[in-house]
Amino acid sequence: MSTTTLSSVLPFGSEIGPNGHLLLGGCDSVELAREYGTPLYVMVEDDLRDRATRFVNALEASGLDGQVMFASKACPVAAVCGLFAELGIGCDVTSAGELRLALHGGVPPEGILFHGNAKSDADIADALSVGVGLIVVDAADEVVRINAAAASAGVHQKVLLRVTPGVEGDTIAAISTGQEDSKFGVNLIEAPAVIELIEAADSLELVGLHLHVGSQLGDTDAIRRAAEAIAPLGSFPVVNLGGGLGVAYCDGDPQGDIEAFVAGAAAAARDCFGEGVKLMLEPGRALTAAAGVTLYSVEGVKRNVSTWVAVDGGISDNLRPLAYGSRYEALIADRVGERPDTPARVVGKHCESGDEIVSDANLPAPKRGDTLAVPVTGAYGHSMANNYNAALRPPIVLVSGGKSRLIVRRERFDDLLGREIGDPVRSVGDRDA
Ligand code: LLP
Repeated sequence: MSTTTLSSVLPFGSEIGPNGHLLLGGCDSVELAREYGTPLYVMVEDDLRDRATRFVNALEASGLDGQVMFASKACPVAAVCGLFAELGIGCDVTSAGELRLALHGGVPPEGILFHGNAKSDADIADALSVGVGLIVVDAADEVVRINAAAASAGVHQKVLLRVTPGVEGDTIAAISTGQEDSKFGVNLIEAPAVIELIEAADSLELVGLHLHVGSQLGDTDAIRRAAEAIAPLGSFPVVNLGGGLGVAYCDGDPQGDIEAFVAGAAAAARDCFGEGVKLMLEPGRALTAAAGVTLYSVEGVKRNVSTWVAVDGGISDNLRPLAYGSRYEALIADRVGERPDTPARVVGKHCESGDEIVSDANLPAPKRGDTLAVPVTGAYGHSMANNYNAALRPPIVLVSGGKSRLIVRRERFDDLLGREIGDPVRSVGDRDA
């Protein structure tokens, strides 16, 4: 048997076990699949800790006062938010749901930043009542609403103003946010008036500006241009330059460099806002994507023009290939050291042809019953999972040092049926008065 080396995109510490199985966090992935069922999201704790520590250390090494905030939309899981909080990382939330998960994970309210381009009055009241550290103002009308809500709650609320810098992130359109024609933030022309409005609001304190140019960025060039664009708006104690550092999804893709990204952002902050500014960064993907591997069971292998390897998940647990044309790798976890010899298309179980997880996989003689592993699914997999075809969303298991711990359980039929009300065969006209 000829062997190959392990993919560079597997999580920190991944190995080939003596039986040829893929080991994740010291756990046999085939055993994990058996124990917890598939599809299964596996998150490697050491990988999460390593990247989080690197962000924190890099920000400290920059010499600027700084704070890393985890953009929890990437992986809104209480245990993950809590693990980061232990390492001194705050949490960026964009909804009342993400807020609850962060609090449940033990993130202190003052370490939470509340975002949203369509905040409801209930969202604002919620954020104020738990005492979040910062609310990010996204539109002029929000100033009046947040100020009134803060006044009636008797709260003095610190806020940032999100500015659309008119700079496109060097990424795909769906995840570029800094361009002028954007639904996020206020533009450079409107910003001075909104700043005045906030400064005149009795219950609000404007502590700084916020920008986020986009996601899956390779470097900080766009962030620097964006920082230069917003700097003339004034000098404030804090600047939040967003998240966006990209990751490698396949062997050979450029790997986002945490230290270079933080150093680049810090240099931009220092050059544009001065030595005394406090720099906030809010990475999501770069903290969690590479720690995650999805395990599937191969349900069947079919050959016509292509070889189709059909697994028991798909767009219900990973929407990214369909939404963005994102590419992934696949490995057979049972024979991970074997040289692959079968070009194959790995597809899901859903009723559409676009349900293709990896279109150019190369696998060692795949067969029904194999455990198939797809790396780099720790960001925007669980968070964008859905119930298409009434699929039950997968659990998440955290692994470390050969031990595993369930942190999110699998959805159950009860969860689906629990939302169905009343007698299904009654017509609307029969409704009780
Ligand atoms: N801050 C703000 C204001 C954001 O909107 C985002 C992402 C982040 C931080 C974190 O960005 P990251 O470091 O994760 O790139 N569903 C897409 C990604 C959408 C990103 C939305 N905003 C995907 O799967 O690629």
